[in-house]
This record gives sequence, structure tokens and C-alpha cells, in this order.
Amino acid sequence: MTDPTLALTTRVQQALAEAFGPQWREVDPVIRPANKRQTDADFQANAAMALAKRVGKPPREIAQAIADQIGADDGLIASVEIAGPGFLNLTLRTDWLAAAATHQLADDRLGIPTPEHETVVVDYSSVNAAKEMHVAHLRSAVVGDSLVRTLEALGHDVIRQNHLGDWGTAFGMLIEHLLEVGEGSDEAKLLESDPNAFYRAARAKFDSSDKAEPAGSAGDFAVRARQRVATLQSGDPDSLRLWSEIMDLSKVYLNKVYTELGVLLTDDDIRGESSYNDELAEVCDTLEAQGIAVVSAGALCIFQDEFIGRDDKPVPLIIRKSDGGYGYATTDLATIRHRSLDLHADRALYVVGAPQNLHFRMVWSAADKAGWVKGTEPIHVQIGNVVGTDGKILRTRSGDLIALQFLVDSALERAAQVVAESRPDLSDEERATIAHQVGIGSIKYADLSVSHDSGYTFDLDRMLALQGNTGPYLQYATARIRSILSRADAVAFDGPIVLSEPDERALALRLSDFGPVVADVGESLEPHRLAAYLYELASTFTAFYEHCPVLKAEDPAIRDSRLALCALTRKVLVKGLDLLGIQAPDQM
Ligand code: ARG
Repeated sequence: MTDPTLALTTRVQQALAEAFGPQWREVDPVIRPANKRQTDADFQANAAMALAKRVGKPPREIAQAIADQIGADDGLIASVEIAGPGFLNLTLRTDWLAAAATHQLADDRLGIPTPEHETVVVDYSSVNAAKEMHVAHLRSAVVGDSLVRTLEALGHDVIRQNHLGDWGTAFGMLIEHLLEVGEGSDEAKLLESDPNAFYRAARAKFDSSDKAEPAGSAGDFAVRARQRVATLQSGDPDSLRLWSEIMDLSKVYLNKVYTELGVLLTDDDIRGESSYNDELAEVCDTLEAQGIAVVSAGALCIFQDEFIGRDDKPVPLIIRKSDGGYGYATTDLATIRHRSLDLHADRALYVVGAPQNLHFRMVWSAADKAGWVKGTEPIHVQIGNVVGTDGKILRTRSGDLIALQFLVDSALERAAQVVAESRPDLSDEERATIAHQVGIGSIKYADLSVSHDSGYTFDLDRMLALQGNTGPYLQYATARIRSILSRADAVAFDGPIVLSEPDERALALRLSDFGPVVADVGESLEPHRLAAYLYELASTFTAFYEHCPVLKAEDPAIRDSRLALCALTRKVLVKGLDLLGIQAPDQM
């Protein structure tokens, strides 16, 4: 076993059972890392206070009984100390920790546990096709991808769902615009390279013709666009062909972005809004028949007492407009039903902007009433805004949200400068590879190192700094360790690890926390906890490397042990970055 918390939990439970009887074997002794300002111990057990009533003894007496059971010659615990009202301060035996580190080094999983198996659906990226991705979509893609990688590492079945906005009224004007510019024209190819430009051109035509006098005349673009929506939705083959042409070009664009970012999504993960189209009428009929939806002012609505608006009346969730059209909510009702009843998700994650929270809660609650959320916990992983250094939401001067490609290109450009300065000795090709890894890594780490629901400041200078809590700092740490290892003329770095210096011990203790941290991210769905861990690990390694000579260690056993600690640190950092979707350059 390499997880001290787990080992201590079992040990303290055993002591409790020995002292007070077998019924205490299952209680959680609440093992937490000790507060280093109060004690030199490694861990603290807080259970005595909570157990006092149930056991019928004062907390200090319980703590004392546990300490007596553990005694002096325990294989796991070196010392137990009772503090305050009945805290137990626990210090691990150093040789136990050394064996755990040696074991972790030999373990392909590096201590990552396999919790009870789940099927987890992850809805992420989910952009509106034929419109360019902006920074909020970037963040959904980056956070979602990290969650996918982490959940898979924990052994879960992960089903990626790219819920593309690929249906709806905008496609009327997009199709009409495509017909005007001509299929296969350079204008049409914009869908592949700059979909936002294509969208804007269509929108401009639509808006100006909509306002033109006399409105609604034959040949009017807006009129044709509206008619096109109707023919498309009625299944007209020619409209559908044009629609799929737009979608195919959009997918080329999306795949380019995903490849550049190293996001796992492929065409197989696309399950867009259009794929639910045939179910929407039935969804409405079923909800109406069940009495969950009612017609109000011509529209089919769901009113729920749990969602009361400012006027003290339930907020309507409109699922069929008075003109018969269906909307975003209708599709999401069919979507949660599919994820729960067909995909059998234990958890269904929606990695989507925070402003959509009310929408999701209303949809899921309605779906639950219809019996469509059986055994599934739907979770909104809320994505916060990305703001500029002025604290405002990132926008271009004309007020548009900043395009993703612009951010990516800026980061790549800056990374190329950084690498050009730091490694003039490398070939252009090597530098380009590193610059790409560093540029993308810096963006992703900036997204992931703050909690996903809080806003973060897009600041290229900070993101690309080689010092501080940044992607490049961690990437540099892995490259530096690789270079240390390459200078040792050893074949294998497999220890055994011995811990004689406090900095070695501190490093081993930090390393042992990797598996628990990954498991925690799988539960809390907060990748920033892993980022914070990796940053602490890199800092702990730096302290170790400053105080403990590795290549110059005189005793060969100590040298081997320190090399093994270096190798283990590198493996954990590389694996941790991989779970964040960040590559580790071989050199930097
Ligand atoms: N396309 C939507 C947007 O860009 C996000 C879709 C999220 N997923 C969902 N099932 N509603 O805002």
C-alpha cells in the first residue's frame, strides 16, 4: 500500500476495535495532513471528539486508548502524540514511507487507485457549429478534457459527448448564404478556416434585409432564410444536403482546433442537437400526457414550484413555442433521457458556462418528474468567465468575444520567443516542437489552475512565466529532472529508496499523495486541486534538490536512492500533467 491516509485509517480503526470492541472497525477516524504550524507530525486524526458521545468516554481518554494500542513497535506509525482536546498527531515510520515510495515507483499506476466503477458521460466543448469558438468554449474543452483523462485513469468508463449546436434557426440563413456565395467557393471555404466570418456575413445579410423596405418582399434574404428553416425542419432532402455540407466543413475546423490543442474529441463523440430532432415531438407529447407540461398562451410549458421568479410565480420552461417550434430546453430533455436511460450514466457531467445553471436545473428536475433520470446524477461543472487584465470579459474592440484562435496564436508566438531565448542551441525543428508544447500547455494550465467556476485573467506574461504556478514552470521541472537522470550513467532508476534527510522524507510524503489527489479530482471534479498538488510537488522537489546532492552523492546507495526519487518525481509530474492534458517536453 502506498497511500498513508488509507493505511493510517485502517490502523487506527484496528486500534479502536481493540480498545472498545469490533463495532468501531468501520468508523472513519478522519485522517488529515497535520497542520505544520502546530506540529511536526505528518497526519492528524480527529475522530476522538466525534466518537466521545458514542463511546461514552471523554475524547482524550479515547485518544489515549488508541495511542496505547498502537504502542511503540508499530510497523506503520513511529509516534503518536495527543494534543489539545483529543487530537491524535501521527508520524509515519520513515522506513514505511521509503518502502511505499519504492513501491510507487514500480507501480504503473503510480498509486492511482481504482474506485468503484462508474459510467460517466462528459458533455464538453459543445460549441455552436458554424460559429467560431471563443474563450469560454476553450475553457470547457480544456476542463472537460482533463476530467475525461482523470476519470479514465481512475478506471471509469467515460463517454464523451460533443453536444454541438448544429440545428436551429441560424441554419436557415447559413444555407441561404451558402447558396448565394456558391458551394465550393472561397467564401464557402471560410467555414473551414474562419467560420465566424462566414456566420457574420450571413448574419449581416439577414439583418439588413430584415430591416429593408418593403420588408418581406419576394427574394428578400430574411424571408428566404425563414422559409429555409421550415423546409429544413420538415426534412427536405436538398436542404438537408446543404446543412450537412455546412456541418462537414465546420467539423474540419473543429478537428483542426482539437488537434492543435490536444483535446481528445473526435467525430465519433459528436452527438449534436440535430440528433435528438426526431424525438422532440414525442418528448412534448409524453410530458403533456403525464401532466408535467401544460399549454399556456399557445406555448407548451413546464411550471415547477421549485423555480419561482421575481413575480412569485413559477418560471416557465418553454418546450414548444406557439409556432410549434422546439428549442434548446426540449433538446436537453431528450438529451438527459438518452444519457440516463440509454447510456446508463452514473454521473452525467455538463461542462458548460455558469450562466446556464438555471436552465439545466429546470430541465433535469422536469426530466426527473418524467422518470428520465433514473440512477444518474446530472452535474453542471460550471465554467466561469475569462477576463482580460482590465478585469472585464475578454472582447475585441468591436465588442465581440475574443476568438479562440487569436488567443492560441498569441500564446504560441510568445512561447516561440521564450524558447528562442532559452535554447538558441537547438535546431529550429526542436524549438518549434517545444514552443508548441509550452504555448498550449501555458493556456491549458492557466485554465486549469484556478477553480473552473471562478473567472480567471488571461494574461500572457503570467501564463508563460518560467517561475511561479504556471504550466511552463512544471514543464521545465520535468525537463530538468530528465536532464539530471540523463547525466547519471545508470540503467534503471528503481531504488530502493532510503530516506535519511528531512527533505527526502518530505518529498516521499508529498509523492505518496498523488493517488489520493487524483481520486479526489474524480469526485470533486476540480482539476485545479491536481494543478495545486503538482505545483507543491515541484516546489518540494526543488527544496530536496537544493539540499541533497544527487549526482555528487558519495555513498552509491544514497545516490541510487536519490536518483530513484528524481525518477519517481518526474513520473508523477509527467503523469499529472498528462491528466491535465499537458505535454512534458523532453528538454526546455
Ligand atoms: N451549445 C451550447 C453553447 O454554446 C452549449 C451546449 C451544452 N450542452 C448541453 N447539453 N446543453 O452555449
